[in-house]
Amino acid sequence: MTTELIKNVWYVVGLSEELKSKSFISKVVMNEPILLVRPSQGPVYAIKDICPHRGIPFSYGRMVKDEMECPYHGWTFNHQGVCTRIPSLCSGQDLDPNKIKVRSYPVREQQGLIWIFWGDKDFPIEQAPEIPVMKAFDMNVRPNVVEVATFNCHIDHAVIGLMDPAHGPYIHKSPIWRSEKTSYEKTKKFAPVPFGFQMVRHQPSKNSTAYKILGGQPTTEITFTLPSVRVEHIQVGKRNVYSYTALTPVSEKETKIHQMMYWDHPLLSLFRPFVHEFAHFFLYQDIDAVNKQQDGLKYDPSLMLIKDADTQAKWYYALKNEWFKFLENKLTFQHPVQETELRWRS
Ligand code: FES
Ligand SMILES: [Fe+2]
Repeated sequence: MTTELIKNVWYVVGLSEELKSKSFISKVVMNEPILLVRPSQGPVYAIKDICPHRGIPFSYGRMVKDEMECPYHGWTFNHQGVCTRIPSLCSGQDLDPNKIKVRSYPVREQQGLIWIFWGDKDFPIEQAPEIPVMKAFDMNVRPNVVEVATFNCHIDHAVIGLMDPAHGPYIHKSPIWRSEKTSYEKTKKFAPVPFGFQMVRHQPSKNSTAYKILGGQPTTEITFTLPSVRVEHIQVGKRNVYSYTALTPVSEKETKIHQMMYWDHPLLSLFRPFVHEFAHFFLYQDIDAVNKQQDGLKYDPSLMLIKDADTQAKWYYALKNEWFKFLENKLTFQHPVQETELRWRS
């Protein structure tokens, strides 16, 4: 089980709503400070937030005609990270600013999220796992509810927590949610999907009060894909609700979570503040558990993954392993998951 952070993949870096026109914001992904810039014209771009001249972050500077001007000596860099101006140069001094570059990253913005491709310069992006799209909605849809938070742990633990079905009755106790007293045995069908796996569409557990609020007979489908995206799609008749979670490694010890809900269900819109409060409450239960877990993990204990409750976690590690093997020897990706049923009590 490698603890290496996954590269040559897309990671969520921010939300569309964070970046107004002609503004910029600094983020950290994979131990690297990254500046996101939304120019007045054209798409969002991303460059490393460190001036190659003397290392000051561009984010202390300003935008000049859609380019970033360093606050220290005024060097200016464009959307490709190419230096376009060095103000101190005199006539006859033949340094070509265009030869000076700062790292830039491919960016995608869709369904209210900003993603960057973090990887090797020469890696063919089309071979990377696709960004999961919510097919019931168009590319310009915005989330109805957003929670952004930090887990003080390695991304692997955050991912495993995300797909762990057995902690529900213990961590997510709530008067209107589950408790261990109402837990019972469940059987769920799983199938492989490209670079991930899916809990195939089914009627969700009868002890989930939240589903009842929606009315009708909901069905749900949960998909996990590399590197770290979980999408739950609930259908109630013609209505759709998505819970979309993306994890991003800030460093080996810190993980950002973006958790969104999207819906076209009028009842949920009516109760939006309540739904938001509930999502917040739920997420902070997980954060609390992960923070407490760190108290034990700092002693580097050996850990266990059991059948079937932790099988999804095993699949995650297997997928990750395959991805690294694929990157190393450029052979085809051997999918480690087969269609199967898993059983657990929760
Ligand atoms: S440090 Fe950026 S221009 Fe000198
Ligand atoms: Fe949880």
